Amino acid sequence: MSSTTTATGALNSNESVADAETIAPSADFDPIAVAGSLPLDEKVALLTGAATWTLRSIPAIGLRTMTVSDGPIGVRGTGEDGLPSAQLPAPSATAATWDVDLQARLGALMAAEARRKAVDVILAPVVNLQRSPVGGRHFECLSEDPFLTARLAVAFVDAIQGQGIAACVKHLVGNETETDRTEYLSRIDERTLREVYLAPFEAVVDAGAWTIMAAYNGLTRDGVDAPATAHGPLLNEILKGEWGFDGIVVSDWLATKTAVEPALGGLDLVMPGPGGPWAEGLLAAVHDGRVSESVIDDKVARILRLAERVGALSGLAGETLPYDASGATEHPADDDVVALLTEAAARSTVVLRNVDGLLPVDRAIRGRIALIGHNAVEPFTQGGGSAFVTPPHVSAPIDAVRAAFPDAEVELHRGGATTLGAPLTPADLLTTPDGEPGIRIEHLDADGTVIGAVRLPDAASLWFPIDDDAVASVRVTTDVALEQAGRHVVELGPVGAHRITIDGELRSESVRHVGVEVVLNSSYSNPGSVEAVIEADGPRTVRVDAEVQVIDGESYGRFVRLHFRYRAPGPTVDEELDEAVAAAAASDLAVIVVGTNPETESEGWDRPNLDLPGRQNELVRRVAAANPRTVVVVNAGAPVLLPWLDEVPAVLWWWLPGQEAGRSLAAVLSGAIEPSGRLPWTLPAREQDVPVPHGIPVDGVIDYAEGLDVGHRGWDRRGRTPAREFGFGLGYAEWEYRSLELVDAASGASTAAPLAVARVTVANVGARDGREVVQLYLSATDDPSRPVRWLAGFTVADVPAGDTATVDIPLARRSFETWSTDAAGWTLRAETYRVQVGRSSRDLRLETTHTVSG
Ligand code: BGC
Repeated sequence: MSSTTTATGALNSNESVADAETIAPSADFDPIAVAGSLPLDEKVALLTGAATWTLRSIPAIGLRTMTVSDGPIGVRGTGEDGLPSAQLPAPSATAATWDVDLQARLGALMAAEARRKAVDVILAPVVNLQRSPVGGRHFECLSEDPFLTARLAVAFVDAIQGQGIAACVKHLVGNETETDRTEYLSRIDERTLREVYLAPFEAVVDAGAWTIMAAYNGLTRDGVDAPATAHGPLLNEILKGEWGFDGIVVSDWLATKTAVEPALGGLDLVMPGPGGPWAEGLLAAVHDGRVSESVIDDKVARILRLAERVGALSGLAGETLPYDASGATEHPADDDVVALLTEAAARSTVVLRNVDGLLPVDRAIRGRIALIGHNAVEPFTQGGGSAFVTPPHVSAPIDAVRAAFPDAEVELHRGGATTLGAPLTPADLLTTPDGEPGIRIEHLDADGTVIGAVRLPDAASLWFPIDDDAVASVRVTTDVALEQAGRHVVELGPVGAHRITIDGELRSESVRHVGVEVVLNSSYSNPGSVEAVIEADGPRTVRVDAEVQVIDGESYGRFVRLHFRYRAPGPTVDEELDEAVAAAAASDLAVIVVGTNPETESEGWDRPNLDLPGRQNELVRRVAAANPRTVVVVNAGAPVLLPWLDEVPAVLWWWLPGQEAGRSLAAVLSGAIEPSGRLPWTLPAREQDVPVPHGIPVDGVIDYAEGLDVGHRGWDRRGRTPAREFGFGLGYAEWEYRSLELVDAASGASTAAPLAVARVTVANVGARDGREVVQLYLSATDDPSRPVRWLAGFTVADVPAGDTATVDIPLARRSFETWSTDAAGWTLRAETYRVQVGRSSRDLRLETTHTVSG
């Protein structure tokens, strides 16, 4: 649908990108002049969001509402359109492709999803680093390596913004830990900050990123301890000054605590709105001179510049923007999306071990295949937290494996539950006290008087908004049908003050009221639980009665949260393990999918250890002992310890694969797509070897004491041997490195040009066409202040069996430079650098040197 604009082009503030035909600003549109022409109160108001996901409009200047949405796993939208979202593999997975072109195609898909959902700004990518393997948002980050992160992020951002959608690169900076995530200060020395943690941000700003998100945490740098949202040296001096960033700095959600310091410190937009410290205090601060109007004008100009970039301005000239809203609400071309996401998940998959060519499995295999594992039954496709999207479908492993091996008989066995919590209570077991299907919800005021009632259909909907401010708590009542004799488990997970009775017996009570903090620390998405075990002699019902507080989530709205789960009598974990092992023994091939789950990997908390949940190690060992043809597939975004890794014949790291889980698994097992992934982080063998085992703040400070030695650099510095090193991945082909030479970069080079170009020839000496990820590392033997070696280039090469390929890898000047704290600038040290190329950070096949002369 499109509407015609008025003569002035001003749009109704409710119109969105989907239903507006916009008019281009004139070529000489001057955001600074327009900003200066607005009344002060209107300017200040613009600097706080209109709502959770929207910015304010100013119809008089043709500025419509801009909409932002979370990424990076998909574009969720505002949640109001009810549309599902294409669900990508998690970023740690896509980074394992080391494929910038694929990143660009995924970025283009994100942009198309944004268009479809009328979103102007995607809150992605995350370019924080995987500093510790236990980090809760590890799966949302790309890599432990700054160079790999930067290269992939630039491709992603470029592709999104090339479609006129803004990327919001997050979270600036030192946001590598979830423990106490809104409270801590990251202490990072200046050189480490520049060379490691700021490097990906600098690269995306250099490539033209339009928005950056300031993190929840603070930064202690150069004697200035300040929240990232109010850090003048970081935002004003480095980001906007040195790097010339002309976009907006937006606060992480509810991260801004005061009015004046963030305003002076370089923050441009407080999210979400309405309300918050700027809505309450910024106008007064301008009136009494603590913040000058020119500071406000600069922020407004930046927002207008963003609006211009995403086509949210109209009426400033009479032309039509090259923006076609006609397809905005249509679904993306489904087959193309399925194909791209299958390819991405399959290409991400890393072959960790493959003895005697067990993989790929012949598509004509006959006999029985035992597909085993909790994660085979319920693949964990995405981590928890703000990145969560609802996909249109999840491709089930069992269906896809059956389709890929049509002559085999494929059976599915769980092999023991690995989650602590029970599954959601099925809707068909629930009846209200009035005999209707579902759950009765009574609304209670502060005195406990019932002021309304509704019925909800199922347990999944026990996370619902409350619009009426008079409702202080709700009473949830339902009868659960226990359909057979045996041991039933009913679990309730309330957030905040509550009183729970089951069959009339008080099970849990709390008077501790909670507020928006449960949103910020994500505990609302992972409630503790009250468990009732009921031994039933035969069919009966059990009455659940729970009173739970309404949580005031401020800009997130008022809502109630109560997990409601149920486990019917069934086989024990021991019984399921025995059954899976017996099935494996009677099969021609066993495929076990082990992994993490929504209780393990999420925003809001860090993991306590690197263990696989439940008894999965035992399952693997027993199945592998029962069947010599066992393939283990690891469904996790962040490292877990695999103590049996070198005892089983084949192991694939399959990540959090997104909506095409099953299809991608079938494609890699059958070899339809080569799993050409290479680890973008180090896989530890033992917890005690991990250089940064956790990021728990001490007295409110996280000290980045390892300095430049993040990730694989830390492993190299300590001389420790991981289970698999950074960059590792076998693929299905076999490779020889034939030659390496350095050729001159183009003459007359600008400072941005590479200092040299490495020309590498590789040969595919295997029997299958394949892809090699050629990796290049530098070291400076005369400079002990540098890491032992650092990644400085990579490229993918698709090579037919028996063929060779020659690739050029540019060596950027920045890869040789170091940050000099004394000179407060980058310096290029005259030295002879060792240049090594190979298959991983520890499988380096050829080397040469490059001399930088003084
Ligand atoms: C997260 C951001 C996210 C924002 C909006 C915050 O809690 O840290 O990454 O974009 O919420 O959902």
